[in-house]
Amino acid sequence: MSTKITEHVHYIGVNDRTTQLFEAMWPLPLGVSYNSYLVTGSRGVAVVDGVELSHAAEQIRAIKEILGPYRRPDYLIINHMEPDHSGGIAMLRAEWPELKITGNATTLKMVKGFYGLAGEELAVKDGDTLDLGGATLRFTLTPMVHWPETMMTLLEEEGVLLSGDAFGCFGALNGAVLDRDMDTERYFPEMVRYYGCIVGRYGQFVQRALARLKGVDIRILCSTHGPVWTERAGEVIDLYDRLSRYEPLDDGVTVVYGSMYGHTERMAEAIAGELARQGVRRISMLNAAVTGDDRIIAEAFTHKGLVVAAPTYSDGLFPPVERALRALAVRKLSGRRVLLAGSHSWAHQAVKVMGSLLEGCDVVQPAEPVTALQAPGEAELEACREAARALARALRD
Ligand SMILES: Cc1cc2nc3c(=O)[nH]c(=O)nc-3n(C[C@H](O)[C@H](O)[C@H](O)COP(=O)(O)O)c2cc1C
Ligand SMILES: [Fe+2]
Ligand SMILES: [Fe+2]
Repeated sequence: MSTKITEHVHYIGVNDRTTQLFEAMWPLPLGVSYNSYLVTGSRGVAVVDGVELSHAAEQIRAIKEILGPYRRPDYLIINHMEPDHSGGIAMLRAEWPELKITGNATTLKMVKGFYGLAGEELAVKDGDTLDLGGATLRFTLTPMVHWPETMMTLLEEEGVLLSGDAFGCFGALNGAVLDRDMDTERYFPEMVRYYGCIVGRYGQFVQRALARLKGVDIRILCSTHGPVWTERAGEVIDLYDRLSRYEPLDDGVTVVYGSMYGHTERMAEAIAGELARQGVRRISMLNAAVTGDDRIIAEAFTHKGLVVAAPTYSDGLFPPVERALRALAVRKLSGRRVLLAGSHSWAHQAVKVMGSLLEGCDVVQPAEPVTALQAPGEAELEACREAARALARALRD
């Protein structure tokens, strides 16, 4: 599909409504788009980012439709090498052998490493420009958003930022490409889920990239996934800013728990019930054994409070909760008010393992972890409620 975005920029991306798991891990209930853009000037034409391999023919068709029989693309600018954007580049090269593969030194090394491609290339450095004739592209290196080679390309004359994965979201495009031509509400939850799962670990690098974009006149945001943002570009930048500072989006609480025989679940219910009595209105109770990490990550990036409750299992933490908590720890989830709870029958380990997993996360625990030996009695359940009250107070700070 191709859509004209500005005088110099066309959308030439593709939709994937077949793949069930992005990166073989993350569910795609609304599909995903691999966005690519064609920038045309009076002297040259650049394709910015490729698409995933199985859709390469579609991208080539869109390019030909726009350029007609007498023009061809001169440059393939690679903002990001991950194969969801570079899988199709060998096919582009086969179609147009003189196509100059353009990227920074790290990108060009990766192109060789992944695809063994030899031929014309153009190495660019931070701040370099490429003049296509009335369309000047400026490159800004933004490493680790979210691979080491990532960069962004700004079309200066039109304030169009081709941002790679930054500002992206899950969700295929349903007819329209620009935010102003569609109802975009469904994409915002998918942006939080995408950010948390894919970019979440690299908040400090997103912050560095945002700092480098300060003062740049950005009128249109062209990410590699999801809608092209025009009228809501400011909101999208603001959301990425908040998420990458680990700023919660609301004062709710995510309760991540696991329970084989219901003892820990009773503790989790006692905590959630008391939080509700204390006025917390957004509580997400997630049984880690049947909830995907994507959902747990998205909720934890949304809410200010986090409760983790699990039994001790084989001298360790109940495995489904360990998996979920590790997913949060890998992303260095910070700025949360955290309450830990555990249940055991002879020697408790669960809350100790939770504590060590959370070591790299800058979080506050407003109450000591609560534990119960075998079935929780009234004293343990009251301890849960007391801790929940402390958590509710901490959420208001
Ligand atoms: C397979 C298995 C392994 C367990 N390992 C331990 C253990 O290493 N240490 C311990 O104190 N309790 C252990 N327990 C007991 C549970 O932690 C305890 O009964 C807990 O209350 C169960 O909580 P639940 O009802 O929420 O599943 C184990 C239980 C099971 C079924
Ligand atoms: Fe990526
Ligand atoms: Fe991507």
